[in-house]
Amino acid sequence: MSLFSIDPYSLPVPTLHPLAAEANDVIRRDCPAFFDMLSAKGREIYFPRFGILGQTAEAKATKLNATIGIATEDNRQPMHLASMDQLLTLPPSEVYPYASSFGVQALREMWQRLICEKNPSLTAPISLPIVTSGITHALSVAGYLFIDPGDELIVADCCWDNYSLIYTNVYGAEIVMHDTFRDGRFAVESLQQRLSKSKGKKRVVLFNFPNNPAGYTPLKEEVVKIVDVLRESAEDGGSTVVILDDAYFGLVYEDGVFLESLLAPLANLSEHLLVVKVDGATKEDYVWGHRIGFVTFGGKGLTEAVFRALESKAAGVVRATVSNAPHVSQSLLLHAYTSPTYAEEKRAKLAILRERYQRVCEVLESGKYDAHFHALPFNSGYFMCVQLREGLDADAIRKKLIAEYDTGVIALGNLLRVAFSSVPAKDIEQLFENIASACAS
Ligand SMILES: Cc1ncc(COP(=O)(O)O)c(C=O)c1O
Repeated sequence: MSLFSIDPYSLPVPTLHPLAAEANDVIRRDCPAFFDMLSAKGREIYFPRFGILGQTAEAKATKLNATIGIATEDNRQPMHLASMDQLLTLPPSEVYPYASSFGVQALREMWQRLICEKNPSLTAPISLPIVTSGITHALSVAGYLFIDPGDELIVADCCWDNYSLIYTNVYGAEIVMHDTFRDGRFAVESLQQRLSKSKGKKRVVLFNFPNNPAGYTPLKEEVVKIVDVLRESAEDGGSTVVILDDAYFGLVYEDGVFLESLLAPLANLSEHLLVVKVDGATKEDYVWGHRIGFVTFGGKGLTEAVFRALESKAAGVVRATVSNAPHVSQSLLLHAYTSPTYAEEKRAKLAILRERYQRVCEVLESGKYDAHFHALPFNSGYFMCVQLREGLDADAIRKKLIAEYDTGVIALGNLLRVAFSSVPAKDIEQLFENIASACAS
């Protein structure tokens, strides 16, 4: 009989792993309302700090280390190929070995510090971020921990289409939508109506500012209203998990727009409202293919012990899904964040995007395309949307734009999404001329 063969009929009924029970006990003891928000999977997950990982850590300083699952040279450096190494100036130890499932510790600390710097009104403590393999993965970690099949996920109707794949296909959420805009402003009333329909229950709300596809971030006064509505919902006898998809954080082009993450006003709002901030380097630092995102927790009354327990559960999900995020990408980011020219480089790139944004505003200001389309409110991010006049078929226009005008846009319902982030300012007028001509012909 094989050493590893298992008779499935004699397997014991799975019980909660002691490490999951330990983390659950801490969360239940210090923050009972937050414990109730965890999904069944979220309660069961744990970071396996014993087993291979624990034994490897314990043997780290040994001379004859035969624990780690990588290959080393005779001098104990990570084995690597010269053809790759010649492309990199980083030390091999920062490139080739696995990173921890929690992420590189120095990067986690740096990202936490950056969150605090970018959100000066944030006064409540937050967890140490967990590093994920991109922001999509961070969104998925949030789903794993907090969404059970059948749970409601409330999201604006103008939203990234991947949410349904992540949250409905993978975690079984029922996505319910509120209007994004009413009378050219963020539709806070619609959000409030949606929340009041699930009064007294657990609900998960997802905000994405700057928004994909509309390119909108609420104004400061709109944020005050959003926070009021969330406070009311958190205190209505139910509980609210707020997932913040801050993928496009910092790319804001107008005065009066809220410049911080909603984390700042929400992190100390209510013992019944937990914030799961999802963000990353992807869009902010222009490293789409590096695959580095973060999950960070905030909420009133969270203790250091609960932060550690939630971090260990999130790292457990990372371990169970992708094992760990790319080490080389984490090292590159860490070096960039400590570079003396980083801030100036970021300002320069933001200026390019702002110029393109302003060009879009100028081109549309004249009103010359009003017969064919009008812009939805936009003030930030990579995108803006135009709503086509009634009778026009967005997908047909999109196809015509490719075939006859050498122009690519995305069709979403009766909207066209324009990524001005990837069009030089000098070409923006032509882009809208082409859209108008395709609508007219
Ligand atoms: C709103 C939003 N969130 C998350 C992501 C995913 O980011 P990543 O490429 O890091 O997974 C995107 C990418 O398009 C996005 O538009």
